[in-house]
Amino acid sequence: MSEPADRRYGPATLPRVRGPLSAAVVEALRRPPHDLPADLGVDLDPADPFTDEDLQLTLFLCYELHYRGWLGVDESWEWQPTLLALRARCERVFEAALRRLVGAPPVPAAGVAAGLAELVAADNGPALAATLQRRADLTEFREFVAHRSVYHLREADPHSWALPRLGGPAKAALVEIQTDEYGNGRLDRMHAELFRRTLDRLSLDTGYGAHVDVAPAVTLATNNLMSLFGLHRRLRGALLGHLAAFEMTSSLPNRRYGNGLRRLGFDEVATRFYDEHVEADAVHEQIAANDMCGGLVRAEPALASDVLFGAAAGLAVDRLFAAHLLDSWSAGRSSLRAPAPPALPAVPPMVSLVASPEVAPPALV
Ligand SMILES: [Fe+2]
Ligand SMILES: [Fe+2]
Repeated sequence: MSEPADRRYGPATLPRVRGPLSAAVVEALRRPPHDLPADLGVDLDPADPFTDEDLQLTLFLCYELHYRGWLGVDESWEWQPTLLALRARCERVFEAALRRLVGAPPVPAAGVAAGLAELVAADNGPALAATLQRRADLTEFREFVAHRSVYHLREADPHSWALPRLGGPAKAALVEIQTDEYGNGRLDRMHAELFRRTLDRLSLDTGYGAHVDVAPAVTLATNNLMSLFGLHRRLRGALLGHLAAFEMTSSLPNRRYGNGLRRLGFDEVATRFYDEHVEADAVHEQIAANDMCGGLVRAEPALASDVLFGAAAGLAVDRLFAAHLLDSWSAGRSSLRAPAPPALPAVPPMVSLVASPEVAPPALV
């Protein structure tokens, strides 16, 4: 690992803006904490919140202040009231879209663990893992890894926010899962560090947040979902349900990802992150469904439907993510946003930019 520690572990540099709202937030974050205009985001009404680049990046910008922060941004922004108010407006739009997407899954008489199993059994999403195992070329695989790096380089962190909000059996079960995710306290076994080696083997930037700029809205949405659930105590049931669905749908896809990398000629250093999850998550799924979610609902029965909502939302947003990758690839497009544009070439004086469309500044998308 050759890069300096600050790039590996964050904070990341502020991303490029994607519209007026994220532009206003980035502009503000570059300066000392101050009040934002009161009307910022009040008329927020995107046609599709999951693919709205400006909304998802704005949420991501706000949430990251609670993880590693942003390079050069004053840490007091984390609790700046007008920025929190803007985040709350964005969250209302996002949460309403999630509830429209999955409704309120019914809690079966057999209990919440049975409800989770039903949701997972019914989850016949796009065949992303099978494609990566059998057909994806190196370019596509690298894209997949770049998308996932936004989460995997801070793997398990959003779910750790549940810890101080729980007691008893649910807490013990969550600690057992998270202990594995964090490598039992061994840096070289932390899942985030295993993933960093995968990035390195694929010659991708291993810096924290290095691929946020090329991650489209739907990829940010998979992350924002965890942050939304993690940062609101009222959504602790959804957070545990999300983690359970994650663990229950992990073992087989991870086997496929590892096999896909082996097919492309990569060694066990590259595949270790995926191989590790095949065994670990076969165990975690039992702990997550029965001990963690079951334990939570035994202590707080009213949270059963939230657990299933969180699981259903996680599965549904992941289906949107998978569909985006597969649709992009089958249309012959990259699934990533365009990389940072090259520096504009020097334009001789008096030459009209209109006549040189290749030097036009990139549009905000
Ligand atoms: Fe993991
Ligand atoms: Fe796990």
